Formats: sequence, C-alpha cells, structure tokens
Amino acid sequence: MAGFFISFEGGEGSGKTTQIKLLANWIQSVWRGKVTQTREPGGTHGAELIRQLLVTGDKERWDSVTEALLMTASRRDNLMRIIKPALDDGDVVITDRFFDSTSVYQGLVGGVAPEIITALNTLCLDHISPDITILLDIDPELGLKRSNRVENAETRFEDMGLEFHQRVRKAYLDLAQSNPDRFIVIDASRNEKAIHDDIIAQLEPILKAAQAS
Ligand code: TMP
Repeated sequence: MAGFFISFEGGEGSGKTTQIKLLANWIQSVWRGKVTQTREPGGTHGAELIRQLLVTGDKERWDSVTEALLMTASRRDNLMRIIKPALDDGDVVITDRFFDSTSVYQGLVGGVAPEIITALNTLCLDHISPDITILLDIDPELGLKRSNRVENAETRFEDMGLEFHQRVRKAYLDLAQSNPDRFIVIDASRNEKAIHDDIIAQLEPILKAAQAS
C-alpha cells in the first residue's frame, strides 16, 4: 500500500506548525491509514542534533555550502528512518519543510549552484519526492512579526534580515510557478481557519483520487 507525501514550505512566521496540526487532524478522519508528522532540519534524534547546529548561533556560523551539506545529512536520516518506512506502510506523511527549503535558502538565495543541489538530492533522496507541496506565502514583514522564535534560541535564519527573507519569498514563488503540478500556493496572511479551509478545499480531491487509485 503506497502512502501519500505532503511537504509544507514557507518563510518564517508563515504558520506551518499550526496548519500542519489542523491538517493532520483532518486527514486522520478521511485517510485509510495513519498520519505521520516530521520536520526538517530534524525529525529523528540525530537530525535534531544537526538542527541545533544549523538554527542557533551566529548567522555567519556556516556558509551556504556547509549549510546545504548539513541540511542534506539531516534529510537523509529523516528520510530513511521516518519518511520512507511510513510511506511504505501506507501513511500520509506530512513534513514541515523538505528539499525545496534547501533549493530556496541555500540554492536560489544562498548561491549554491543548482547542479550541486541536484547532486545532493540525487545522493540522499532515493527518488522520493513529495506528491504535493503546500507553500504558505506571506509578506516577510508580517511573517517576521508573527514569528515567536524570540522565545527560544533558534534565531539564526531570522537574523539574516528582511531583504534576505524577501528574496526567500520570491524564490519560493518562482519555484512554485515552475512546478505547478506539485505546488499549492496559499495566502497565509489570513486567519488560521480561512487558511485551513483553503488547504482542505484544494487537497481533498487530490487525496481522494490518491486513495481510490
Ligand atoms: P523552521 O523555521 O521551519 O523550523 O526551519 C528552520 C530554519 O531552517 C528556517 O529558517 C529555514 C532553514 N532551512 C534551510 O535554510 N534549509 C533547509 O533545507 C531547511 C529544511 C531549513
């Protein structure tokens, strides 16, 4: 039984965590199998240790290439220990970020060459790709205000500044435009319920078709 793989993407404060929780509850009521949630960087014990290296400390701590390597190491562990076994079991897997984050933050914005990003993906992914990617799009000025990370030490990427995050937003929208069959772009400036309802409206027919096949 094949599962269904959903990734969430978006800038800081786009509300991914809340929307993933709401979506997982809804999917649980309509899908035949389990729902497995994970996140990147992180998801497994080892990958969470790598996450701490990436999201804390000075923004100059790593250059973009090193970041891409660490993100890929984290992704590989998450993929092999959580994502792949869950998909093989027929679960819906929802991940808070996946390879598009590396394409955007380290590639399109950070300057790592596309052929290196492609090579890293080929190395780590075992040909697994999300069936659907939900991009929560928000103006970074609003997103950075909403983000509550001041409560913890995970501020390394936020510290990169508004211009960086504007470039991240644009890169995501460009990526979505070049992959229209996989991406669903959602206006994340609205309230939680409006965003959730919009996600369900767009995802429900796709999920039903996947379940019927
Ligand atoms: P989070 O805010 O979704 O927990 O993600 C932590 C940060 O890591 C976020 O600012 C984006 C960044 N990131 C990358 O730069 N590249 C990646 O491949 C991933 C997965 C995350």
